[in-house]
Parts: sequence; C-alpha cells; structure tokens
Amino acid sequence: MEFSVIILAAGKGTRLKSELAKPLHQVAGRPLIDWVIDAATTAGCSHIMGVISPPPSDVSSHLEDRIELITQSEQKGTGHAVLCGIHTLAQLPPAQPVIILFADTPLITSQTISHLASLTAESSDLVVAGFETGNPSGYGRLKQTSDGLLEAIVEDADASDDEKQIALVNGGVMAAKAGLLCELLPQLTAANAQNELYLTDLVSLARTARYHCSFITTSQDELSGINDRAQLAQAEQHMQLRLRQAAMASGVTLLDPLSVYFSYDTQIAPDTLVEPHVFFGPGVTIGQHCHIKAFSHLEGSHLADRVTIGPFARLRPGTRLDDSVKIGNFVETKNSHFHAGAKASHLSYIGDADIGSEANIGAGTITCNYDGFNKFKTVIGNGAFIGSNTALVAPVSVGEGAVIGAGSTITEDIRDNDLALARSAQRSIRRGAEKLRAKKGK
Ligand code: UD1
Ligand code: CA
Repeated sequence: MEFSVIILAAGKGTRLKSELAKPLHQVAGRPLIDWVIDAATTAGCSHIMGVISPPPSDVSSHLEDRIELITQSEQKGTGHAVLCGIHTLAQLPPAQPVIILFADTPLITSQTISHLASLTAESSDLVVAGFETGNPSGYGRLKQTSDGLLEAIVEDADASDDEKQIALVNGGVMAAKAGLLCELLPQLTAANAQNELYLTDLVSLARTARYHCSFITTSQDELSGINDRAQLAQAEQHMQLRLRQAAMASGVTLLDPLSVYFSYDTQIAPDTLVEPHVFFGPGVTIGQHCHIKAFSHLEGSHLADRVTIGPFARLRPGTRLDDSVKIGNFVETKNSHFHAGAKASHLSYIGDADIGSEANIGAGTITCNYDGFNKFKTVIGNGAFIGSNTALVAPVSVGEGAVIGAGSTITEDIRDNDLALARSAQRSIRRGAEKLRAKKGK
C-alpha cells in the first residue's frame, strides 16, 4: 500500500536550551529525526516529507536530498506546518494515507506507522494515535463519541475542567487521507488559547464534514515527545532497553544489560559475551564467540570471530581485529588492523598500524605515529615479537618473525627474522648500592 509521511520539524526546541536544533539531538548515537525517518522507511514508506524552518540551517543541510523538504517560515502551529505542504499533498491520490509524525518522537515504531496507514486506507478517513496516562497535563485530550469513535481533540490550554480529567491523550501522530487534508487544512483558524492553527482541530472539522474519525492506543513510551533534557535522557533509556532486548533476542549474552550502552547501528553476532559497563559508540560490528570484557569502550571498529578485548580496552575508529585477536587491559587502538591471532595484552597505544598475524605486542608498546604535524604508519610482520616498553617511531616497519628487545626505541626498519636492540648498554657498579647508602648516612 502506498502512503506518504510528513515529519514536523520546524519547532525551535527552546526548552532544550541548545545551540543545536532539536531534530539533530541524538538518541543512541543517531539524530532524533533520523529515527523517525527510519521508522517510516521500515514501515514501507517511500515518500517522506519534512517541514523545517527556512534553509540554510543545520537541519536543512542534514536532510538535504534525503527527504522532500517543505519550508515553514513562521511557526504558526502544527496545523499550519502541515498546511505548508498542501501543494505536495494536492498532487497525491485523494485516498492515499498521509501519516503526520513529529521529529521529537524518536521511539515511534514502524508497526504503529503501518497500522495507521492500513486503517486509513481500509476503514477510516482520519486516525489518531493516543495513549492513556496518569498525568495528561500538557497533552491534547481525545474526546470519544458514544460509539467509541473520535469526536474531537481539545488542547490542554483550551480544555475545560471536566475535559482536563480525560486520561486518553493525543500522542501527536495523525493519519488522514490526502484529500481530507487538502479539503480541511485551509479551514483551520487560530481562534484558540494559543492563537495557532492546531492540527488537532482537523478532527472536529472532519466530523462535521461526515468523515469517519477513529483512534488507536499505543504505549506512552512510544509516543512520548522530547521537549527538554530530562525527556531526552528518558528517551535514551527507552531506546537502550530496546537495543539491549534486541541484542539478547539475537543471541548475545549481556551479563548486566542495564550497564551496556549501544548505538543505533551496533551489530553483534550470536554467542558473543558482553560483560558489564561496556559502551558501543557508532559503527561497531562484532562477530561470533567474542568476549568483550568489562569497562571497554568501542567505536568505529570491526571485530571478527573469537576476539577478546578488555577489561578496560579502548577501540577507536578504524580498528579492525581479525579472528582470535586479543586486546588486553589498558590498550588503545586507532586506525589499526590486527591480523588473525595477533595480541596486545597490556598497556599499549597502537595507532595507524598493520599488525601481522600471531604477532605479539609487549606491555607498554607505543606506536609514535604523530610528529606534531603528520601521521605515519607502523607495519609489523607476521609472528614478530615486540618487547615490552618499545617505542616504534613511525614510519617504520618490522619484518616477519623479527624480535625487538624490551625498552627499545625503534626508528629504522627491521628485516625479517632480525633481532633489534635499541637501548643504552647497562652498567653495574659492584656493591655500588652499599657505597651509596653509606654516603647518604643510611
Ligand atoms: C502537540 C499536540 C497535542 C499533543 C502533543 C503530543 C497540537 C496542536 N497539539 O502539542 O495535542 O498531545 O503534541 O506531544 O498539535 N511544529 C512545527 N511548526 C509549528 C509548530 C510545531 O513544525 O508551527 C512541530 C514541532 O517542531 C514539533 C511538533 O510540531 O516537532 C509538535 O509541536 P509542539 O509545539 O511540541 O506541540 P505540543 O504543544 O507538544
Ligand atoms: Ca511536543
């Protein structure tokens, strides 16, 4: 079934007290509006419009070429926002469902969108999604007819004391046939407490014009809007619950789900174990039978199967770990490829490096990849052994099977199977410690 979606995103979002526009604030590492676009796309919508304030703005450049943009120059209410798109709506077949969504409602699901679209196509002309709440203040109240249809929506600011008692509220999502919108949007007036064109007034106009108006209910979580930072944090919690449940449902073990944070695009294969207090930033994929130990932080990293990292590992963007690689505690990696079976078990920084298979990076190894101006690459051959506390001053390469003595500062390339030592020779003074103590009077 063909349907269109129109996302209202022209609001100022004043209560977030931010330089960043509200639709671009993030939940689980993804802008709010992108969650809404994704839900609409997953529901099968191929025609998505967004109502935004006039370009240029960070929202317009973010959305450019991704959805059809409609400009609302002045914020005159949700009804006015949709009215700004009337020329586009008029091009659609009159019976086509149009779903109106808000950019600040990122938890909306594709199931609810599909459900609204099919109801609007098959049994109703206008459908509103609402929920029951113990604290309806601030929301529009859904008034029902005696036969359980939708009679009208009364905004909080306009509600009588009796109407304020209604616990069934408007979640902000409305679906209507394109023809109904084109006929009735121009009839909206601003004769209300907020002096705005309310989208919600379409319901009583549609009833008067003898259209069939109904409602569905969803959980409050799904429709709760984000107006301030506290609601942003709540939405993050709800989204994390979903992401944790999805990971477990797909076969990932989370020892303490509440302490693991995912990004929208985290992908983990079955039988991987994640210990407590792990943070997955954007762009992480993990294979099967991996073990992500406690307090690790990963972003932009690809792990193949049987990889072990942590505790306290930090994988930065561009990290690629092949089969059975081991990254231990207090190891930071960036833009580096570890081939199968390579190990860096303790206290190291490995940046801009290619580490051969089965190579062993000793404790305290540092790739000195930056001279203050440019970045340089370190290449380590298969099976090489890097002694503890080695500084690899890039650009530098270490041959296959080479061994570097502990404490070396390596500035020149090492050939296959060579032994390199780059540290000052040790000098020991016989009984020198006794003499020193005598001299200091101890
Ligand atoms: C709206 C509903 C209310 C519902 C509530 C659910 C109306 C009149 N009221 O109220 O019934 O219970 O949502 O959260 O619809 N926007 C524009 N242009 C405008 C005004 C708003 O694009 O001129 C956008 C905002 O960016 C936002 C959305 O529309 O994404 C909702 O606007 P908002 O002012 O937050 O509506 P509420 O007062 O919350
Ligand atoms: Ca709102």
